[in-house]
Amino acid sequence: MSRYPQRIRIVEVGPRDGLQNEAVQLPTALKIELIDRLSAAGLGTIEIGSFVSPKWVPQMADTAEVLNGIAHRPGVSYPVLVPNLKGMESAVAAGVDEVAVFASASKSFSQRNINCTIAESLRRFEPIMALSRSHGIRVRGYVSCALGCPYEGPVAHEKVAEVAASLADMGCYEVSLADTIGVGTPLAAASMLEAVLRQVPVDRLALHFHDTYGQALANTLACLELGVSVLDAAVGGLGGCPYAAGATGNVATEDLLYMLHGLGCETGVDLDRVVDAACFVSDALGLAPASHLARLRR
Ligand code: HMG
Ligand code: MG
Repeated sequence: MSRYPQRIRIVEVGPRDGLQNEAVQLPTALKIELIDRLSAAGLGTIEIGSFVSPKWVPQMADTAEVLNGIAHRPGVSYPVLVPNLKGMESAVAAGVDEVAVFASASKSFSQRNINCTIAESLRRFEPIMALSRSHGIRVRGYVSCALGCPYEGPVAHEKVAEVAASLADMGCYEVSLADTIGVGTPLAAASMLEAVLRQVPVDRLALHFHDTYGQALANTLACLELGVSVLDAAVGGLGGCPYAAGATGNVATEDLLYMLHGLGCETGVDLDRVVDAACFVSDALGLAPASHLARLRR
């Protein structure tokens, strides 16, 4: 029997986490084409944008038009990020099927990213949860800075576990533990996950590793051994967080798929089509692809 989960669900975050941090604004029509290519590749969850302040993140200002323009494939979920009730109301008006709220395990990052304390952010999510229940919208949660903060450095695993448990308790169906600045290494990632597992069951957890220091695949492998079976990734390894200077994109979806398929894990995703999508979006942005597999295509 394999020591890794047999089936892995990938949450594609490139159109949101990737494009929110690119200097070039990708035109709405090209975002729509990218998302449609990703759903055609078999990705079942694609985070397509965010209803945040356009003054804070102008790249996501066209999220309602993107949602309106994509081919809504049956069985595919298209979540958007919402930071507050105003964002949630916009998401409901746009007809979303799923949203994601985002808190931080570090108070300085919370302040810089969403202009409030950790406790205040959790309070802001309560009306979001209430609205989601009345509209049948699923809510996912993020814990940023799970392996380090750009302003404070190390972050206590217990704090990560506490914020993750708060999100799970308020009704997030899944909580994604994010190494926002990609500083984690495998033993640190596994011990952080072990701390969270003492409070949240494994089937409600996901991992969201940025690859700034090239550790994301190694960290993923260490955590797969603990049974996590939902992984976030960004096509082409795009992006980063605008409030975490220097942080690069998430692990590239195609590089992650290559590793998972090699381990014998099923994903239901067509690797070649994801590489095509990575080349498509890199060309559209005028950038060299950041992933190993897309570079091999060149
Ligand atoms: P604020 O300035 O404190 O908000 O920002 P405010 O309530 O005082 O409102 C100020 C203005 O923003 C007002 O407009 C509001 O209407 C407007 P004005 O009167 O000045 O014209 N506003 C909004 N507009 C559109 N949509 C909204 C919204 N809310 C207020 N939802 C706020 C607080 C949370 C809005 C702001 O800090 C914000 O938008 N932050 C988002 C930052 C962000 O998107 N960061 C990147 C995503 S998180 C991430 O990447 C991490 C993740 O990938 C996991 C990981 O890797 O760690 C998820
Ligand atoms: Mg992120």
